[in-house]
Amino acid sequence: MGPSILIARNLSKVVPSAEGNLTILQELSLELTQGDSLAIVGASGSGKSTLLGLLAGLDQPSAGSVTLAGHDLGPLDEDQRARVRAEHVGFVFQSFQLLDSLNALENVMLPLELDGRRDAREHARTLLERVGLGKRLSHSPRQLSGGEQQRVAIARAFAAEPDVLFADEPTGNLDSHTGERISDLLFELNKERGTTLVLVTHDERLARRCHRQIRLEAGHMVSPMEP
Ligand SMILES: Nc1ncnc2c1ncn2[C@@H]1O[C@H](COP(=O)(O)OP(=O)(O)O)[C@@H](O)[C@H]1O
Ligand SMILES: [Mg+2]
Repeated sequence: MGPSILIARNLSKVVPSAEGNLTILQELSLELTQGDSLAIVGASGSGKSTLLGLLAGLDQPSAGSVTLAGHDLGPLDEDQRARVRAEHVGFVFQSFQLLDSLNALENVMLPLELDGRRDAREHARTLLERVGLGKRLSHSPRQLSGGEQQRVAIARAFAAEPDVLFADEPTGNLDSHTGERISDLLFELNKERGTTLVLVTHDERLARRCHRQIRLEAGHMVSPMEP
């Protein structure tokens, strides 16, 4: 076992609602080592995206703690959490969140440039070739299919060489063949770079490819983390 990259302890999320406090995640704990892969499965509304947001430091828990790449996120303010994310985390969302005013190459270059990398263009080109889009560099997102846009999003997420890649239903909008290609890509990058994967998915094949799976039901983990 390698070092822990992501530790969650007794995470809970409670939100106020018109009917009183609503518990959307209850006392959930897990621990991942570098290079691990975790699938989070469960029905719609079971708390998967909420959990992902807490683990990635996008959202704050009502109770419990998250330690990401050695940083306890609890005491950090939003700017400090943003810095931890920038250094350690990549995201792929179901809605690809590419910038329409930039072409594919520029979308992937952006995080590299923000990171001050002088080889941003060359590195972005290499990544896009890696995901099979070497001939789509100057296409705008609108000129790309859903699967192609998702591949650009993955190239962008991997550009900053994150320790942990979080993906919320990365194959959700794709046909099964394209979804399979996206899954292959995630696991190739996981293998080559040791990137830890945390994936929310309804795709059973994708979930089975992960080293670990957890199932949520109404904010509770119903199948345990440890074998
Ligand atoms: N900010 C919020 N305020 C109130 N309710 C929320 C909020 N975020 C999520 N929920 C509720 O929490 C539950 C879990 O949401 P979510 O994590 O998005 O589920 P999933 O991703 O598994 O479909 C849902 O019932 C949702 O309506
Ligand atoms: Mg969701």
